Amino acid sequence: MKASLQCLLMLGLGAGSALAASANTPPKITPKSQQNEANYTAPYFPLLGFKQYANNPIMRPDPDHSWESSYLYNPSAIVLDDMVFLLYRAQDKQKTSSIGLAWSSDGYNFTRYDQPIVYPTESYEKTGGCEDPRVVRIDGTFYLTYTAYDGTTARLCLATSTDLVHWKKFGPILPNFTETVYNWRSPVTYFAPNPTGWTKSGAIIDERQPDGYYYMQFGDTYLYTANSTDLIHWEVSGSGQPFAPLLNVWEQALTESGPPPIKTRDGMWLKVYNGVATGGVGGYASGQYSTGQMLIDPANSPLGPPVARLETPILQPTTATEITGQVDNVVFSEGLVQFKGKWLLYFGAGDAFLSVAQTPVQP
Ligand SMILES: *[C@@H]1O[C@H](CO)[C@@H](O)[C@H](O)[C@H]1NC(C)=O
Ligand SMILES: *[C@@H]1O[C@H](CO)[C@@H](O)[C@H](O)[C@H]1NC(C)=O
Ligand SMILES: *[C@@H]1O[C@H](CO)[C@@H](O)[C@H](O)[C@H]1NC(C)=O
Ligand SMILES: *[C@@H]1O[C@H](CO)[C@@H](O)[C@H](O)[C@H]1NC(C)=O
Repeated sequence: MKASLQCLLMLGLGAGSALAASANTPPKITPKSQQNEANYTAPYFPLLGFKQYANNPIMRPDPDHSWESSYLYNPSAIVLDDMVFLLYRAQDKQKTSSIGLAWSSDGYNFTRYDQPIVYPTESYEKTGGCEDPRVVRIDGTFYLTYTAYDGTTARLCLATSTDLVHWKKFGPILPNFTETVYNWRSPVTYFAPNPTGWTKSGAIIDERQPDGYYYMQFGDTYLYTANSTDLIHWEVSGSGQPFAPLLNVWEQALTESGPPPIKTRDGMWLKVYNGVATGGVGGYASGQYSTGQMLIDPANSPLGPPVARLETPILQPTTATEITGQVDNVVFSEGLVQFKGKWLLYFGAGDAFLSVAQTPVQP
């Protein structure tokens, strides 16, 4: 049954099943592999007009792989050798997370590697596992940030690789961070400081800034800033002040990084991020996750605030998989690539499935 299904999928006859063919050998990636297409065209802010792909979701859990049998979502994306690669979060029956790998030559129909590429091996990864990957590539090395969760504390971790398959773990990178309590608007319940060491969602800017530092925004209440000179050792910048206030009505509960920022035509950076509404304002339901966009300028204001931001989301939960899921009312974007004339924004739907939205490359 399984074999014939896979066979059909590989022949391209399994439209809509979104199970995706699997393989035990991924494409060979080396430091010489080409990132992005030869005719890559940088965006400018804002990047608008994202439409859901008609056959979403494009990937679902696979009951035959125990590590990805329950939920599959929150993908990072990168274009290498004219294929889109996704690193995605998957959960097993115990809801322990691992990170899987899939690739596609059209951006919609993916083949998946049958083994997880990053999975719990350390004490701080046991139970909860390895969540929410974000990958950048600098001088042929992949830098992967992910959240290790031990059931009590979420810790932002780093791993490196040159082939996307074999990873070296560096452990939690900001172990001593304690969130600032910042009363932007009340009454709200979200401002109790997280325990020391609670960190998440690091999106690295993949270019060294004129001051010699690399930067990332991280955090899952506010965005905060961290800096590094070698991409391995990171420190919280400044006094740990938020990078951006919770400004828009749809993001009053929290903001969290989306994909790693993308350099714009005019030398700034387009940052796609996710936000949660407290409800009661502007028609956004309490707990609704939406995706928005800001323009940032790390060369001139590395600690924020953003230069500009959109007032309304570029993506909101609208379809059944987004409205009802492991968590209801969620779109959570983590991957943005340019491929074959489009920008493809990969996102988790309801913390359960993997979907994509698209918009044309700007002229
Ligand atoms: C994906 O593959 C299915 C068949 O499995 C095909 O019907 C569909 O057109 C493909 N999608 C794209 C965008 O090529
Ligand atoms: C975190 O704090 C501990 C205890 O003060 C200290 O030993 C350790 O060096 C700190 N780690 C980092 C990465 O700053
Ligand atoms: C990087 O972080 C350290 C530790 O917080 C801080 O002393 C330093 O000023 C930061 N550097 C920059 C350029 O933000
Ligand atoms: C780049 O070339 C591909 C074909 O190789 C084409 O599909 C795509 O539209 C081109 N992108 C841009 C931005 O011109």
